[in-house]
Amino acid sequence: MAATNSIETDMQRFGALFAAATDASEDAQPLAAGSVIVAGMGGSGIAGRLAQALAERCGGLRVSAWSDYGLPAWADGSERLIAVSYSGNTAETLSGVERAIELGCGWEAITTGGRLAALGREYGAPVTAIEPGHQPRAALPLLLVPLLQRLPIAGIAAQLTEAGEVLGAAVSPVGAATAASPPAPAAAPDGGESGATASPAAIAAQLAGKLPFIYGAGGLATVAYRWRCQIAENAKQLAVHHALPELDHNEIVGWASPPPNAVVVALREPDEPARVAARWKATRAAAWRDVPVIECRARGESPLARWLSLVHLGDTVSVELAHLNGVEPTPVRVIEELKRRLDD
Ligand code: F6R
Repeated sequence: MAATNSIETDMQRFGALFAAATDASEDAQPLAAGSVIVAGMGGSGIAGRLAQALAERCGGLRVSAWSDYGLPAWADGSERLIAVSYSGNTAETLSGVERAIELGCGWEAITTGGRLAALGREYGAPVTAIEPGHQPRAALPLLLVPLLQRLPIAGIAAQLTEAGEVLGAAVSPVGAATAASPPAPAAAPDGGESGATASPAAIAAQLAGKLPFIYGAGGLATVAYRWRCQIAENAKQLAVHHALPELDHNEIVGWASPPPNAVVVALREPDEPARVAARWKATRAAAWRDVPVIECRARGESPLARWLSLVHLGDTVSVELAHLNGVEPTPVRVIEELKRRLDD
């Protein structure tokens, strides 16, 4: 897809895109549905994953994010499908719509156009039109806000308002902190926690040439996944993610012999439940004694504001890392090549 906006520009305008999306979707009516499937892949799919995590945390309805062909086998036509595809031409998402039509599910789309918008016109399904000209992953605010406006998640209106305030106040221009920024806080010698979050440039400097293991608890595991994807797509570098507490029951054993270039990134909320804070501390003491641990603290009060503050931090870090790696953050040529090969 030809994107006219660079990843750098969009990342710096993350808060502005969020505000524009809020203005554009303020008249959207929340669904009455009790169970919604949100289908989408990659940079579009993350919107559904965040919505699922938010519904799991706050309640209000059941949201199932789906990133595969078709729909889950348990779908029986009683669910509503929201298909999210920035381009509107993603094969897996389109096949989910085809399955919804077979099942007789109500469905709608969030897209810039493509085949998805054409199907919407053909079947009379509502289509929320998104501004073209962005990379799908950079358009997350444009896709996520109208999606959340449709979902009756408990407290969603107030969360959207607070998230807009937190993101509007975020100032993290790429490169601005590179020369003067302090290094990311090193792991405390006793395995303790420093509490301060370093600048994006300083975090990126600690991740360059390393294998980042990015972790979060609850919804921050989804944010950790976003960091991983953004590091791959923008910085062209591999990263790993996992969720606390699940990692304590399997992956932690592998830390007996970590790769020599491993770095842990811990995504954390302020005032975590005591059992979560205790788990971070115990995991660090048991498994990460000899590994650098970069702590990143969310800002804001509501889950959405907090999670998006760390999405934005991760996006910024990934662009800083791209610069350190000497690669262009915007193009994702291998994805385009793959899609062409599959079309042959
Ligand atoms: C590109 C990107 C990809 C796409 C994915 C699905 O910036 O992030 O992960 O999002 O290939 O395409 P769309 O979003 O058009 O459905």
